[in-house]
Amino acid sequence: MNRASEKAIGVFDSGVGGLTVLEALRQTLPHEDFVYLGDTARVPYGNRTPQTIVRYATSCARQLVERDVKALVIACNTASAHALSALRSTFHIPVFGVIEPVSQMAVDVSQSGIIGVIGTRATIASDCYRRAIANLSPTARVYAQPCPLFVPLVEEGWVDTLPARIIVKTYIGEFLKSMNLMQEGDFCVKNYSEKKKENGIIDTLILGCTHYPVLRDAIDMALNDYGVEVTLCDCGVATARALECALREGEMMHTRRELGTTSYLVTDDPELFTSIGRSFMKQPPVNVEHIDIL
Ligand code: DGL
Repeated sequence: MNRASEKAIGVFDSGVGGLTVLEALRQTLPHEDFVYLGDTARVPYGNRTPQTIVRYATSCARQLVERDVKALVIACNTASAHALSALRSTFHIPVFGVIEPVSQMAVDVSQSGIIGVIGTRATIASDCYRRAIANLSPTARVYAQPCPLFVPLVEEGWVDTLPARIIVKTYIGEFLKSMNLMQEGDFCVKNYSEKKKENGIIDTLILGCTHYPVLRDAIDMALNDYGVEVTLCDCGVATARALECALREGEMMHTRRELGTTSYLVTDDPELFTSIGRSFMKQPPVNVEHIDIL
């Protein structure tokens, strides 16, 4: 057996959001061990400059590489958008971001080739999704909308609340207006179904931030209220599939039959991480250890 296959997979995010990606990784690769690092002392990354994001992401990756992981997953859209190439050239193990896998998923499911992306300010400003999708499908059209209030809503645990539903509906409404699908004062998109049959309208939406799958019900509800039926693409599920293929091809899959383990590291309060993490995973994080990153 290839010894590298027995090592853990390192996963990091700016905080708790990457747990949505970890959840998908654990379901797809149940026999693997994972070390998850949440940089909770420096969250959010989404409003920071590219230089700061690269610096933070590099220091997180270094912590995991020092723990001898066999591969790294950047379970954060913002860090994937800005730091993927820096990490690939700094560290000599396979590094996976979330942008390419979920872009591939969106291109595969979209009939109309008109794809929406929602994410943090830094992710949308990087234009990474437009470039990734253009590489895969040059004729595709991409519309993007930053939704900066979604992360604090989730971090506060305000997922299933009236303020969350109002904020989500407001952002989705602004997004539809920016695509000229609604005007000021409209309650819904006119003739959406007819346009969809003709493949002339957005039919796919990338949840381009780790926190957004937690708001999936509110996002679904808002789209439904506006009369829009799109397929939602989740970066965790897409990244898990890409990682599985790469590990298989590189003969780096763990070969045991027992379930793997997950350990957790955070740069701020472990208890807070555990309590917020409950809304992200079926089995909430346990034995969370605090580390300092300079
Ligand atoms: N994890 C980040 C992302 O996916 C969201 C949280 C943050 O802004 O740091 O973009």
